Amino acid sequence: MSLREKILALKEEKNAIILAHYYQEDAIQELADFVGDSLELARKASEQESDIIVFAGVHFMAETAKILNPDRKVLLPDLAAGCSLADHCPPDAFKAFLDQYPDHVVVTYINCSAEIKSMSDYVCTSSNAENIIRSIPQDQPIVFAPDKNLGRHLAQITGRDLVLWDGSCIVHEAFSIDKLLRLHQKYPEAEIIAHPESETPVLKAASFIGSTAKLIRYAQQSASQEFIVATEAGILFEMQRLMPDKTFIPAPSLEDNTCACSECSYMKVNTLEKIYQCLLLETPEIQLPRNLQEAAYQPIKRMLEFS
Ligand code: 13P
Ligand code: SF4
Repeated sequence: MSLREKILALKEEKNAIILAHYYQEDAIQELADFVGDSLELARKASEQESDIIVFAGVHFMAETAKILNPDRKVLLPDLAAGCSLADHCPPDAFKAFLDQYPDHVVVTYINCSAEIKSMSDYVCTSSNAENIIRSIPQDQPIVFAPDKNLGRHLAQITGRDLVLWDGSCIVHEAFSIDKLLRLHQKYPEAEIIAHPESETPVLKAASFIGSTAKLIRYAQQSASQEFIVATEAGILFEMQRLMPDKTFIPAPSLEDNTCACSECSYMKVNTLEKIYQCLLLETPEIQLPRNLQEAAYQPIKRMLEFS
């Protein structure tokens, strides 16, 4: 039996489901029951009836699935699957930051820990952040955390004066605008499309900005045949699968001669072997204190109701 067949058999036997993000390696995306962006995955997790959810993504995603399913077992193949945004927003520092803005509504990007979510009024993803910000009355000041690049983009498109936490994604901030523009000269017909975690110069060069799912949908609807894609390179697998006749070129990173910088090293710690082992041994499991789970649930629920 191949590893893939062993995982599928175990999944059946244990009534488990595998949810995967678009940034997972190709073999994991092929195997998963559902592949999506952060919002779609949170939604899918909220609809689960299986006994076990295996989350092929990063820690904050599996934690969100656990918050939505406190009585189900949620497994993350490797607990080292973190996120630079979540890791650089520690609860104590964030609490001290919020204490400076007591009259502000707190909107947090889903890429943060359960503790940060529990201090928030709304959770959002890159799919729905704009609509959530727009739904808040104009005269209500807002703190947005932890991604300053997404925050700047939201401030620019909504005209709101957001107070931003100083966090960023190590993958999206590594794109080189100079190399991107040179690449565009080589492929002048290609459309540049970008994830809003990218820095402002990259977003300014893009003809479309959106979450991973929105980037895929945009490429499907666009008449263009070529795209330069400024987000984690794992997305190219789904793009190429859905649009075999179109060309997708990964946006170049600052150091892309020496490393695969547009790959998220956190996302890529998951492997088929680790998925097999975690399903077999039912560990590592995400566990949360009940009071934290309940406090973090409200702002996520508000987001899901909103979308
Ligand atoms: P989306 O899945 O919302 O596009 O976010 C991308 C991301 O960086 C997830 O970590
Ligand atoms: Fe976090 Fe960036 Fe990796 Fe997404 S791509 S999980 S935001 S480090």
